[in-house]
Amino acid sequence: MEKSNAAILGIESSCDDTAAAVFQGGRVLSNCVANQEIHRLYGGVVPEVASRAHQVNIVPVVDRALKQAGLGVKDLQAIAFTRGPGLMGSLLVGVSFSKAMALSLGIPLVEVNHMEAHVLAHFAEPPYPPFPFLCLTVSGGHTQILLVEDYHKMTVLGETLDDAAGEAFDKTGKLLGLGYPAGPQIDRLARDGSVRFEFPEPQLKGLDFSFSGLKTAVLYFLKKEMGQNPQFIQENLADLCASIQHRIVQILVKRLMKASKETRIRHIAIAGGVSANSGLRKELLEVGAKKNWEVFLPNLEFSTDNAAMVAVAGYYKFLKGEFSGQDVSPLARWAPGRD
Ligand code: KG4
Ligand code: ZN
Repeated sequence: MEKSNAAILGIESSCDDTAAAVFQGGRVLSNCVANQEIHRLYGGVVPEVASRAHQVNIVPVVDRALKQAGLGVKDLQAIAFTRGPGLMGSLLVGVSFSKAMALSLGIPLVEVNHMEAHVLAHFAEPPYPPFPFLCLTVSGGHTQILLVEDYHKMTVLGETLDDAAGEAFDKTGKLLGLGYPAGPQIDRLARDGSVRFEFPEPQLKGLDFSFSGLKTAVLYFLKKEMGQNPQFIQENLADLCASIQHRIVQILVKRLMKASKETRIRHIAIAGGVSANSGLRKELLEVGAKKNWEVFLPNLEFSTDNAAMVAVAGYYKFLKGEFSGQDVSPLARWAPGRD
């Protein structure tokens, strides 16, 4: 595939972050995000509120991304945008904006799958994982193990049958009285705790995941303990976080070990918001050292939702001339590796 020096603007609006970034010449020139703090008040993302906030944020965020990149709109060669999966109302804002911008500038429009973009975030900066590699993609909405054969060829080997790993963090954290999103707080609190409580592991065959049993187990365990000691959570918060995190990490890493054994692939990458988890990163490096894996951990800036990953994924489609028409519409559900 011929390389190109084209400047690609990436736009991401699939959930609650409005993001824009510029990728050119193999480098991320800017990567801007407007977070929507308002959802903390509701304990989760409220779709209607998210959609409205995207409408307010999108113009200033795109403006900021272009300024930071030192480019004007006329310097852009394509607009890459997240077509799905995600919240319909949120996606619509990014899709409509991208269509209008591409039309007014007379440049191509490139649709990007959000989950594929999480994987391709690994190509935002070196070291790049060599193909084929396995990618554990763990976010608030998804948990998948992907076989990545090239920029465009990805196969889902296993995925969650119920909650995503991020939801497991957020929902168990809510039971502990932590605010939304609880994942980063559990991560922080777990550092001062020890794994003292045993939570069950789902007994699934194959490479799929399940996290709903963990949430129920934590709920019943807390009910029982709080019945005897109403201060139980406060007195054991760090240990509870360490124990929950340990179980989630074990579930994830065991499946990765199985996938690596079955495919004989030792290049292992992680992506998505939960890949920021320090316990998961540490465990992967430890297991990787034992199993002789080469482990690829994305920079935190590129692990949580961002637009650089959309611009990178868009760049590789741009090289292939895979453009979308003005009739393109968002997809709330869209499996990676599928057209
Ligand atoms: O990829 P992402 O930013 O958005 C989605 O596409 O969902 O992922 C957000 C998820 C949330 O569930 C959040 O709690 C989780 O990632 N998360 C973490 C950490 N940082 C973010 N979970 C555990 N530990 C972290 N350090
Ligand atoms: Zn995401």
